[in-house]
Amino acid sequence: MRSTGVRPPEGRADRGKKMTAEELRRLYFDFFTSRGHTLVQGASLIPQEDSTILFTPAGMQPLVPYLLGEKHPGGSRLVDIQKCIRTGDIEEVGDPTHLTFFEMLGNWSLGDYFKREAIEWSFEFLTGREWLGFDPGLLSVTVFAGDGQVPPDDEAASIWEDMGVPPERIHFLGRKDNWWGPTGATGPCGPDTEMFIDTGRPPCGPRCMPGCGCGKYFEIWNDVFMQYRKTSDGDFVSLEQRNVDTGMGVERTVAMMNGCTSVFEVPVFQPLLGRLEELTGAGAGGTGDRVRSLRIISDHIRTATHILGDDQGVPPSNLDRGYVLRRLIRLAIRHGRKLGIEDPFTRDLAGLVIETESDDHPELARNREFVLSELHQEEQRFESTLQSGLREFEKLLPNLLRNPAATVPGRVAFKLYDTYGFPVEFTAELASEHGLKVDMEGYGKAFDKHRELSRQGGGGKFKGGLADNSEMVTRLHTATHLLHQALREVLGDHVEQKGSNITEKRLRFDFSHPEAMTGEEIRAVEVRVNEIIEADLPVVCEEKLLEEALEEGAIGLFRSRYGDMVKVYSIGSFSTEICGGPHVARTGELGHFRILKEKSSSGGVRRIRAVLE
Ligand code: ALA
Repeated sequence: MRSTGVRPPEGRADRGKKMTAEELRRLYFDFFTSRGHTLVQGASLIPQEDSTILFTPAGMQPLVPYLLGEKHPGGSRLVDIQKCIRTGDIEEVGDPTHLTFFEMLGNWSLGDYFKREAIEWSFEFLTGREWLGFDPGLLSVTVFAGDGQVPPDDEAASIWEDMGVPPERIHFLGRKDNWWGPTGATGPCGPDTEMFIDTGRPPCGPRCMPGCGCGKYFEIWNDVFMQYRKTSDGDFVSLEQRNVDTGMGVERTVAMMNGCTSVFEVPVFQPLLGRLEELTGAGAGGTGDRVRSLRIISDHIRTATHILGDDQGVPPSNLDRGYVLRRLIRLAIRHGRKLGIEDPFTRDLAGLVIETESDDHPELARNREFVLSELHQEEQRFESTLQSGLREFEKLLPNLLRNPAATVPGRVAFKLYDTYGFPVEFTAELASEHGLKVDMEGYGKAFDKHRELSRQGGGGKFKGGLADNSEMVTRLHTATHLLHQALREVLGDHVEQKGSNITEKRLRFDFSHPEAMTGEEIRAVEVRVNEIIEADLPVVCEEKLLEEALEEGAIGLFRSRYGDMVKVYSIGSFSTEICGGPHVARTGELGHFRILKEKSSSGGVRRIRAVLE
C-alpha cells in the first residue's frame, strides 16, 4: 500500500497510534527480527504444494511441512506477511470486519518458543509505547475452554493475567472460536488465544463479549499453539515439535489503530470507494444496503485483482478457482447494477487496486494486462449471460408462481446456471423479488451430480483431493517433463521451470526465456515431444540423495535441501527430473501433444498452455 496518510475524521476513537499499513508492517518486522526471527517471503495465493484447497487461507498453509518437523532454511523463528483469501467468508462481506482478501502478519516458532514468549510478545507489541501503543484497557482476549478431547488452556489464561489483563477480560470459548486447524482433514492444530480491541460501541446485550460477532470487540490477532496433530481417525496426538503460528490481520489492525469502525475505512479502500462515489453520483455513505453494496464491490474487485494478478493467477471459468473468481466478479457487477452503474467498471477499479498496491505486490503490475483484459472480457460475457438468464427466468416465472411452496426447484436453478451461466445467487435474488425462495439444497445436489459426472468424464478436480491423481492429470504431469526437456533442447539450457499448474484439461508451464518463441520453435518443441511419446519410452522412478541427483544432471523445480532423499523420474535417457510424481509408466500412454498458446508470464518468463489429445 502506498503511504497515504491516515487522518480519521474528528470524533474518532483514540485507541493508540495513528499508522498506515506500511508502518505497521515495518514495526512488526522490526519487533520480531530484533527477537531473533528471520524475515521470510510470503507465498502465492494459489497453493503450489497442496491441491486440496483452492486458495491460501492463512500464513500457516505454505509452512505446514515445517510445522510437522521439516527444517526451515530460515531457522526456528520466522516472521512474514502472507496474502490470504477466505471465500468461506463471502456472505459476511459488507459487515465491518470481513474481507475475502486480506494480508496477515505472522511470527512463527518452529519447535522454539511456546506460549509464554508468544503471549508476552503479543502483549508488548500491542501495547508498548514504541510499538502499537494500544491502550491496554481496550484489550480483551479469548482462550480455549477445553472439551472432552483436550483440556482447557489455563496456562494461556494465566500468562495473560501476568501481563495485567484482568480475569473479566479473559474469556474461555469452545472449539468453534479458539481452536485452529487443520485446514485439511488431518494435520497440525491446537488451541489459540485471540486478541480483541474494544471499539467503544455500546454492547449488543448483557452477553456481549469477544466472539459474539456484534462488532463491539474487533479481533485483530490470533496466537495458535500447535501442539497436536489430528490423525485420520479424528484423534489428537501430541506433536513432537510444538509450534507457534500467529496471524495479525493488517487491515483490521490498521482500522483499529486509526479509530475506524470498519476495515473499509483504511486507506487501501479509499480510491475504490471514491471512484464508486463518482460512478454512482452519490456520497459513499447512505442506507445500509447501499453501504453494503459499496463494500462488496470494493472487496470483491480487490480480491479478483489479486487472484488474476498473482504470478500463478487463473482466469474466470466454471470450475474450482476460476468459478470462485467468476462469482466474485459477477457479484461485484450485480451490486454495481443495484447502485445504478450500467457501464463496465471493473477494469477501472482493478486499475486503482494495481496502482495502490503494486509497491507491496509487484506481481500486480507485472500481470496488469492479464488482469485488465480478463476483467473486461468477463464483464462482457456476463452482460450477455444476464440478458439471456433474465429472459429465461421471466419465461419460467408464471409457472413458478403457481408453485404452492413458493419455491424455485433446485434443478431449475441449476439449469439456469448450467445452460445460461446465471449464478444461483442471482436466481435467488430475482426469486425473492417475486416472493419466491430457491431450494438451495436441491440446487447443491444437482450441482454435485453434475460435478461428479464431469469428473468421471475427465472434469472436476478438487473433490476429495484424490481426483488430482486422475489419469489425465498424471498424463499431463509426464507431458510436462517432456515439454521441459524439449524446450531445453530447442531453446537452450537457460530454460528453467518457473511454475507449473495442471488441470484435467491442460498443462501450464512457466519457464525462463527472454523473448517470445517463434512459430518455428513452438512447432519444433511439439514435434520433439510427440517423437518421444511415439518412442514409448519407459518412465522410471528412483530415490536418491539430492546431491547425487543433481550431479547426474537432474532438473526440476523442487523444495529440497542437501542431504534430502528425493524422487527422480527418468524418461528413457531423454529427461531426468526431481519430482514427487505421479507419472505414467510409458510415454506411449500420453496421446498427441499440442501447444495451445505461448505468451509472456512476467519479465523474462514465458508461459505455455498445452493439451494431450
Ligand atoms: N493461522 C491462524 C489464523 O489464521 C493464525 O488465525
